[in-house]
Amino acid sequence: MSEIAAAGAMTTLDPAEQKPQDIYKLLVGSVVPRPIAFVSSMDAKGVRNLAPFSFFTVASANPPIVCFCPMVRGVGSSNLHSSKDTLRNIIATREFVVNIVSEEFATQMNACSAELPPEVDEFLVSGLTPLPSELVRPPRVAESHVQMECRLQQAIHVSAKPLGGSLVLGEVLRFHVRASLLDHFRIDPEKLNAIGRMAGSTYARTRDRFDMERPK
Ligand SMILES: Cc1cc2nc3c(=O)[nH]c(=O)nc-3n(C[C@H](O)[C@H](O)[C@H](O)COP(=O)(O)O)c2cc1C
Repeated sequence: MSEIAAAGAMTTLDPAEQKPQDIYKLLVGSVVPRPIAFVSSMDAKGVRNLAPFSFFTVASANPPIVCFCPMVRGVGSSNLHSSKDTLRNIIATREFVVNIVSEEFATQMNACSAELPPEVDEFLVSGLTPLPSELVRPPRVAESHVQMECRLQQAIHVSAKPLGGSLVLGEVLRFHVRASLLDHFRIDPEKLNAIGRMAGSTYARTRDRFDMERPK
């Protein structure tokens, strides 16, 4: 047995025997820190929407594909079983923008995670500045240092149960990067000052970093 394995007793859990809310806590407490996609979308009538999603990563660099997961609303929501406005907008219009979240506008990002009716414009609620996109209708968030204009590549509806979710994959049609952060395609992490999500209302900063060369 390795020293790590011997470090303490393990609690083993069968998800089938637990409440979905508790499984959610295990997942969001374990998969940390999670980057945050701050997604702008628009409904068919042109109402602007902004919402953060930390179930977010890259699926492919060639072509560039990013993905995130809007969940089905669960217990505790006034609107149990309903899908997020962001998902409905993207299915209807096939367009969205992923804006990377920096600490400087974390409070405004958080304001957009409130359960607001679909007709509410979250740019107005948050006070963030809309910037016209080049190729898609939803605007970018001007405060964000990296904005990716995306076209829906595919949406996979993984589970329709409460706290289930969909995987939204979007092809990046345009990257917009604050020029002062960019040096030969490398993005300065200090200036980006991105934040990550932990469980509950806890966030992580990206200021404490270390380097480790990969084996040849
Ligand atoms: C930092 C952060 C990350 C979040 N990540 C997710 C996520 O990955 N999936 C999800 O369904 N909701 C997530 N939420 C909650 C949504 O942002 C929230 O339900 C929002 O109201 C959805 O907005 P919409 O209905 O306008 O799409 C997150 C909230 C915060 C504050």
